[in-house]
Amino acid sequence: MFGATAVAVVIAAAVVAVSAIDSCEFAFVESMPEGLEFPPDSPLHPKTHQVWLDLTLGAEKSIDIASFYWTLRDEDVPPGDNSSWMGEQVFSALMNTGLKKEMKIRIAQNKPSRINPAKDTELFVKAGAAEVRTLDFDKILGAGVLHTKFWIVDDMHVYIGSANMDYRALSQVKELGAVIHNCPTLAADLKKVFEVYWTLGENNRLPDSWPSSLETHFNAKTPLPVNLNSSAAQVYISSSPPAFSPAGRADDLESIVAAIDAANEFVYVAVMDFIPQMLYSGPQKGKLWLPLESALRRAAIERGVEVRLMISEWQSTRESVRAFAASLGELGHAFKIQTRKFVVPKLPPNRVVPFSRVNHNKYLVTDQQAFIGTSNWSGDYFVNTAGVGLHVFHRQIILQLKAIFLRDWESQYTHRIYENRR
Ligand SMILES: *[C@@H]1O[C@H](CO)[C@@H](O)[C@H](O)[C@H]1NC(C)=O
Ligand SMILES: *[C@@H]1O[C@H](CO)[C@@H](O)[C@H](O)[C@H]1NC(C)=O
Ligand SMILES: *[C@@H]1O[C@H](CO)[C@@H](O)[C@H](O)[C@H]1NC(C)=O
Repeated sequence: MFGATAVAVVIAAAVVAVSAIDSCEFAFVESMPEGLEFPPDSPLHPKTHQVWLDLTLGAEKSIDIASFYWTLRDEDVPPGDNSSWMGEQVFSALMNTGLKKEMKIRIAQNKPSRINPAKDTELFVKAGAAEVRTLDFDKILGAGVLHTKFWIVDDMHVYIGSANMDYRALSQVKELGAVIHNCPTLAADLKKVFEVYWTLGENNRLPDSWPSSLETHFNAKTPLPVNLNSSAAQVYISSSPPAFSPAGRADDLESIVAAIDAANEFVYVAVMDFIPQMLYSGPQKGKLWLPLESALRRAAIERGVEVRLMISEWQSTRESVRAFAASLGELGHAFKIQTRKFVVPKLPPNRVVPFSRVNHNKYLVTDQQAFIGTSNWSGDYFVNTAGVGLHVFHRQIILQLKAIFLRDWESQYTHRIYENRR
């Protein structure tokens, strides 16, 4: 009798476990700056503009957006320039969708400033199209910003990536993200991160402890099993800074270090800025900050793993970004480690779009996993600035991200760090 019950319980549990696995569709999402060209057989992925538009127009009840700043419209586009039409389309779609009766749009954003304004969300609020909460990191942590970029639609579909809510992120800046459709369990987990921001946006004070409703079971130790495009995968979401993590939430930095440490064959990293230093915050400012640099060195030096780091260069790149990458690259004389920079060519001289023409990607791919993040690789981003990362364990997706990396690495836009010195 007991035996039969136990068997029944086991079978029931197995049935629940099987039926509880979501069948989701995963796709990479990219923005290509106008004019960039790759060989015809290069990987091509859905465009951020189209994905955001489809997510917005397909929404039935809710959209939650975590964002840094908002410039989807043409406030600072030079007169006559058409770079903002895609951003304006997304803005209008969000406005119209938000005005629908059954729709609830919530936006968490960083405190606006002159260089990081948020006029778009002011208009949403005025029209009654969205509820907006603003995070003031000076009050919450004494430093940092909300640098996260993600969307959750109908508690089902998710976008995570490097793209800001900025017209440039659709037309003049190179971005990489992922969209995952029909993935309620993952969406519910990401929503817990959103609720952390939403809570903080209420009075800009860190609570003594986070409620158990925001805790998660899905992390590096116990990732979430899902089907992605009909084959088995595991995923989890990491977050920074640590102060924003309820129990169980994977820490962004720890999880990136773990990803590098777990690689057996290769580690390919694309980040806009790689600076193993604390750059911005008070007493720590200027201090060397080595966790990620050390992990890359360990991989190449101790384990013979092939390491490639691709940074971005534009007119605002600090010299230290080039210098640190070059210093890692010097190890390439003795170990399998290489560094290069990706340069997006300028528009013709009659066209100047400010703060654009840069590779803004922030991802990592190894023989074991893919990782899509929102943070630059400097200390501040992991100590007091909010960001998230999506960790994916799935053969096909790893190969796709590797192909994206290699397309860029081998392209005409990628160069040695110092042209004249080697
Ligand atoms: C999954 O399917 C989507 C939609 O058909 C496609 O765009 C994407 O490339 C596929 N992803 C993988 C990893 O095969
Ligand atoms: C802007 O117009 C130019 C010239 O018509 C066109 O080549 C380009 O693709 C357009 N750019 C955008 C972002 O639509
Ligand atoms: C990091 O990334 C942002 C955009 O995401 C960029 O504007 C910023 O200047 C970057 N670099 C540093 C060192 O913070």
